[in-house]
Amino acid sequence: MSANQPYILVLYYSRSGATATMARQVVEGVESVAGIEARLRCVPSVSPTCEAVAPEIPEEGAIYADLDDLRHCAGLALGSPTRFGNMAAPVKHFLDSTSNLWINGALVDKPACAFTSSSSLHGGQESTLLTMLVPLLHHGMVFAGLPYSETELIATQTGGTPYGASHVAGARSDRHVDTQERALCVAQGKRIARLALALRAMREEA
Ligand SMILES: Cc1cc2nc3c(=O)[nH]c(=O)nc-3n(C[C@H](O)[C@H](O)[C@H](O)COP(=O)(O)O)c2cc1C
Repeated sequence: MSANQPYILVLYYSRSGATATMARQVVEGVESVAGIEARLRCVPSVSPTCEAVAPEIPEEGAIYADLDDLRHCAGLALGSPTRFGNMAAPVKHFLDSTSNLWINGALVDKPACAFTSSSSLHGGQESTLLTMLVPLLHHGMVFAGLPYSETELIATQTGGTPYGASHVAGARSDRHVDTQERALCVAQGKRIARLALALRAMREEA
C-alpha cells in the first residue's frame, strides 16, 4: 500500500466469520479498480464487563481500525452482522467514537456503503443496512446502495438487497456465501471504489 494512494476503508465486525468473508469479497471488488486500494480493518468486541480489555492484535482477521483509518479514507464500506434488525454493538461503539471527525467534517462528500450477514432470510437485513446508513449521513457521507443493473439482485434466492450486499448464513452460521451473494459483494466494492475516485476529483475541483 503506497502512502498517497487513496483507499477504501473496508471496516467490519464479525463474530462467526460470515461478515469477515463478505469484507474480503468487497476488498476484491475495490482492488479491481485502478488507482485506489482497499484497507481492511475490523473493530473489537465490546464487553459488558468494564474491566475486560482485548489484546491489541486480534487472534484472527484484520487488525483493528483506528480513527485515522477512517479520517483519511476516500470511501467507506461498513460491514456488520444483523443483530435484532440492527448493526452489532461493536460497530455502533466505534461510530460513537467519531465525534471529532464529525466536528471537522472529515467524511463530508465521501461515499459509503454497508453490508450485512444474518442467520435467517427475513431476519432484518434491510433494517440493519438502512439503520447503518443513518450515522453515515450525519457525517455527510454519500450513501451508495446496489443498483438492479447488477443482475444477481433479481436472480438471488438468498442475500442481496438494493440497500447493500447481504448474506444468509443459516441458523448454524454454516452456509457459505453463495455465487450471487459473492458477486454482489464484489460489485459493491467496485462501485464504492469508482464513486470514491469520482467524488475525490469533485472535492479537489471545489
Ligand atoms: C445478539 C444477536 C442477535 C441476532 N439477531 C439476528 C436477527 O435479528 N436476525 C437474524 O437473522 N439473525 C440474527 N442473529 C444472527 C447473526 O446475524 C448471524 O449469525 C450472522 O451471520 C453473524 O455474522 P458473523 O458470522 O459475521 O458474526 C443474531 C445474532 C446475535 C448474537
